[in-house]
Amino acid sequence: MQRTFLMVKPDGVKRGLIGEIMKRFEQKGFTLLNAELMTVDRAKAENHYFEHQDKPFFGELVNFITSGPVFAMVWEGENIIEVSRTMIGKTSPLEALPGTIRGDFACTKEENVIHGSDSLLSAEREIANFFDLLSIRSRDEDYPYDE
Ligand code: CMP
Repeated sequence: MQRTFLMVKPDGVKRGLIGEIMKRFEQKGFTLLNAELMTVDRAKAENHYFEHQDKPFFGELVNFITSGPVFAMVWEGENIIEVSRTMIGKTSPLEALPGTIRGDFACTKEENVIHGSDSLLSAEREIANFFDLLSIRSRDEDYPYDE
């Protein structure tokens, strides 16, 4: 079982897309482990985007993600990292297919509604950047009465 970090970006929150996005992952059969509406400070944003720190758009990325509340989430499921990336769709609006979140809701690559971790390593790093790790427990551990 894998877990991943998904985040509705400030444009998605402002446009009222949190419910629509959560619905898609719930309907797919994934399990929500934690979620929080939060503002991201610059240190957390720079940490999150450190792989892009040498790119010319790094400053804009940090400005954008700190510009308003985001909805940060941790989800769990079989192959969720790859499957959620498919559900999210490509970064470029020219390549994001209809039926994907970006294909249905995003028109630009800068304001593209949602972030999803691209590997196991990034998922663990990103979850730790946004959440207290002790607050993230598998639902099976938290709700043993389901058995
Ligand atoms: P995401 O995949 O969440 O994380 C990296 C982000 O960089 C990506 O979403 C885009 O929003 C953003 N991005 C990628 N390419 C560009 C670009 N050329 N100009 C501005 N932002 C970009």
